[in-house]
Amino acid sequence: MAAATTTDTTKITRALLIDKLNEDLAREYQAIIAYVVYSQVIKGAEYMAIAQELEKHAGEELEHALTVSKLIDYLGGSPTVSAKPVKTSDKAEDMLRFDRDNENDTVRNYRERVRQCEALGEYAMAEHLREILKQEQEHQIDLATALGEDVPDVSKMKSRDEGQQAKDQARLH
Ligand SMILES: [Fe+2]
Ligand SMILES: [Fe+2]
Repeated sequence: MAAATTTDTTKITRALLIDKLNEDLAREYQAIIAYVVYSQVIKGAEYMAIAQELEKHAGEELEHALTVSKLIDYLGGSPTVSAKPVKTSDKAEDMLRFDRDNENDTVRNYRERVRQCEALGEYAMAEHLREILKQEQEHQIDLATALGEDVPDVSKMKSRDEGQQAKDQARLH
């Protein structure tokens, strides 16, 4: 199975968990930037309700970033200062699709992170991540609804950036 390096909780260490949480943090920064910008530039009467939702998401992603940063510090790591890249488009539907794809990735990653924290006996950390996960799933629903789609089963989806993650891991170790 291609994702064995990340889904096999027997291989998780505190050092690897710090790396993975830093990827989560970079994804939270990406989400903050995307929601700050998209919520203001989305045009069209049919998108006004979702634009307000996106503005709310921006604040929630900031809370997530603070929580994840705290967890990294608790583990003795240094929280990253880099965001994952943010795509731009002048089409409202593209922006919503970018957000939807990122939320799908985020949900899949946090589910994995909860399992990894529990494998290390870090039950309180897992609890914090579960709280974040609840909100991310709501973001997923908001975007799917705005796009007129069903929420996908992310457990069957492959990460769009697994290749990049493999490169990152090789560089870090
Ligand atoms: Fe988030
Ligand atoms: Fe989110």
